[in-house]
Amino acid sequence: MAEPLLSVDAIETCYGLSQVLFGISISIMPGEMVTLMGRNGMGKTTTVRSIMGLTPARAGSIRFGGEDIRALPAYRIAKRGIGLVPEGRQIFPNLSVRENLTATASGEDGWTLGKIYELFPSLSARESSMGNQLSGGEQQMLAIGRALMTNPRLLILDEATEGLAPLVRAEIWRCLARLKAAGLSILVIDKNVGALTQIADRHFLIERGRVVWKGSSAELAAVPEVQHRYLGV
Ligand SMILES: Nc1ncnc2c1ncn2[C@@H]1O[C@H](COP(=O)(O)OP(=O)(O)OP(=O)(O)O)[C@@H](O)[C@H]1O
Ligand SMILES: [Mg+2]
Repeated sequence: MAEPLLSVDAIETCYGLSQVLFGISISIMPGEMVTLMGRNGMGKTTTVRSIMGLTPARAGSIRFGGEDIRALPAYRIAKRGIGLVPEGRQIFPNLSVRENLTATASGEDGWTLGKIYELFPSLSARESSMGNQLSGGEQQMLAIGRALMTNPRLLILDEATEGLAPLVRAEIWRCLARLKAAGLSILVIDKNVGALTQIADRHFLIERGRVVWKGSSAELAAVPEVQHRYLGV
């Protein structure tokens, strides 16, 4: 069997003296779309921050592309090929769409402005608009485009559809399905179980810093009581 692209094994993470993750283990195979779901405050963003080296895990291991990345500084982890679309988007409000996209470009071949505009035609129409002039949906597309411009092997999206209208949300899901079809590996943190069991392969549900359920989309769709218990659906 192939090696996982990302393998998080029993990580424990704290903010100061307050421990938030108690042995989280998740894995992502090359080309897979995996979700991490759970109610508010259960540790999803902290898991992402641990993977990215922003809030380093104090125990456990994190391997990416077969190498141990747990102790690396955040910029090195990003450079290894993990692109983050952070919670709250965090685009540059006073840079144009084009400048936001080129600010993080890795300069190697792969994603270009043209390819991003092809994926998100509405961004192309707003190329010279400032980040803060965009709608919520456009800002989200920009945040995804910016992460893609670093040519990641793994794309991580933390609450990418939060606060967006249903049609805009659907557009984001379509875009992720396209990226997956093109071979990109994707980790999605989101609350839309219905949409995610349509497009993702496997799911990890967490509660208070522990993985409490994992399985395929078909398995998750078949257990409404699990969805109710851990996701409040
Ligand atoms: N910077 C911080 N300092 C101290 N505690 C924090 C910090 N960030 C998060 N926490 C705490 O860690 C726990 C997990 O938070 P985290 O942001 O990982 O949850 P989440 O699952 O992403 O929640 P949400 O769905 O609201 O985004 C929460 O109890 C939160 O209050
Ligand atoms: Mg969060």
